[in-house]
Amino acid sequence: MNVIKSDLEKDDLVKLINGGKPARGCLMTRRSFLLTGGIATSVVMIGMPGMVDAQQPAVVSTYPRKLIARLSELRVDEPLDFEYPDEGAYAESILVKLGREAGGGLGPDSDVVAFNYTCTHQGGPLQGTYQAADKALGPCPLHLTTFDLTRHGIFISGQAYQSLPQVLLELDGDDIYAVGMFGLIYGRIDNLQG
Ligand code: FES
Repeated sequence: MNVIKSDLEKDDLVKLINGGKPARGCLMTRRSFLLTGGIATSVVMIGMPGMVDAQQPAVVSTYPRKLIARLSELRVDEPLDFEYPDEGAYAESILVKLGREAGGGLGPDSDVVAFNYTCTHQGGPLQGTYQAADKALGPCPLHLTTFDLTRHGIFISGQAYQSLPQVLLELDGDDIYAVGMFGLIYGRIDNLQG
C-alpha cells in the first residue's frame, strides 16, 4: 500500500495562498482545499515489488522557490514579467501590485498578485493587456476573454471557462518568491513539465 505524506499542513497552505492570513469565507476554504491537492504532495512511500513490508521513499515533483522581485520596489499598476515555474513554453507570467486587495494578494495591502500570461481558452498571449482601471488581464487577442486579477484570475467575459493559473507568492522580508501554482498552465499536462 502506498502512503502519501504532506510536508505542509493545510493551514499553512491556506495562509500561503492568502498572503499570510488565515482563510476567509468559503471561497478561500474551497480553493485552499484544492490547492492542498495541487502542491502539497512531496514524499511518497512506494511499496517494493515482491517485498511485502518494504517501502521506499520517492521524491515527487515540488515547485521551485524563485526570487521574483522586492516588495519595496513595486509600484501600483506597473507590472513586472517573469517566468515560472521554469523557462519552458507558456511559462511567462505577470507580477503586479494592484493597489486593491486581491485573493491571494501578498504584502501589507494584500494587493500583490501573479498570474500566468497564457489564456486558458486556446493559449492566446495576454502579455501587454493589463488593464489598470479594472485590475484585469485581457481582452485576449484571439477571442477576447478578460480575467479578473482581484478574484484569483476568474474570467469576466469571453470564450474561456477556466481561471487564469495563479502563481503562489511568499514574502520573506522584502523579497517576493514564487513558490507554486494554482491551476494548470495552458498547453501542459503537468505544470512542472513544460
Ligand atoms: S485564446 Fe484567449 S479567448 Fe480564446
